[in-house]
Amino acid sequence: MIGLEDAHLLSLSQEHGVSVREELILLAGIKKSTYSMLALEKTIHLHDSEFERFKGFLKRRSNGEPIAKILQKKEFYGIEFITNENTLDPRPETELIIDLFRKHYVFSDTQLAVLDLGCGTGCIGLTILSLYKNAICDFVDISSNAMAVAEKNSTNLGVCDRSRFIVSDWFTNVSGRYDAIVSNPPYVAVGFELTDGALFDPEIALFAGDGGMNSFDVIFKSATSFMKTGAKLFMEIGFDQKDKVLALASGITLLEVVDDLAGIHRAMVFASGSV
Ligand SMILES: C[S@@+](CC[C@H](N)C(=O)[O-])C[C@H]1O[C@@H](n2cnc3c(N)ncnc32)[C@H](O)[C@@H]1O
Repeated sequence: MIGLEDAHLLSLSQEHGVSVREELILLAGIKKSTYSMLALEKTIHLHDSEFERFKGFLKRRSNGEPIAKILQKKEFYGIEFITNENTLDPRPETELIIDLFRKHYVFSDTQLAVLDLGCGTGCIGLTILSLYKNAICDFVDISSNAMAVAEKNSTNLGVCDRSRFIVSDWFTNVSGRYDAIVSNPPYVAVGFELTDGALFDPEIALFAGDGGMNSFDVIFKSATSFMKTGAKLFMEIGFDQKDKVLALASGITLLEVVDDLAGIHRAMVFASGSV
């Protein structure tokens, strides 16, 4: 058994270039506790195996791996999602899609058939299911490994009975029409130099051809065929993609473009048919 006190945490922090705050978050993951509980403890007791695990985590963190990938969990819209090497870690800016969805569907008892395209962890569609008790959602991803994570998250949230999982190259295996389509597709241009945590996300979740527009191209060619009249499409976009996406959007009406907290055009909402 090892007793970790402040001085020991501080020296490990300096040795690995990991802040004490991050150390406590990693320890909370190991001890199945919380950061705030551990921060109050004078000594954190670890079994030898837990200490070895902690040192492994510190090494990974000092190599730049995000805490979410190390602990295999990430909070999104107040909900904890499992994530792993096969899924993009949910990003705070994607929460904008949920805010927009709530703005467009004000009543939480609305009956909605939703399609989450490129679901990854399932964070967008599953958050919608947890907010809208009468909604159902089809989750699509080309990666069966990512889909397995979305299914686990659906089970954890207790919304399996309203979730359907379809491994598909965009709309290929999808049928039917939806009230709303939500998507945060890959939109990074091939060759773009990734930084920080994105280096640990799967490439298939990030890159979309030379200009980063390939996913939008395919999605906009077919989206209206899968939307009921007046249905809405909520898309996350990259920092310079608003006009390029707009150029692809024929037969669909732009309702709004919304900026993220950094002032970057981050989400677009469209409606099928005339509004
Ligand atoms: C940017 S990630 C978004 C994940 C999740 N929706 C989120 O917002 O955190 C894009 C997702 O699209 C999936 N994807 C990539 N190409 C695809 C394709 N051709 N058809 C369906 N899904 C695809 C990736 O596997 C990945 O999970």
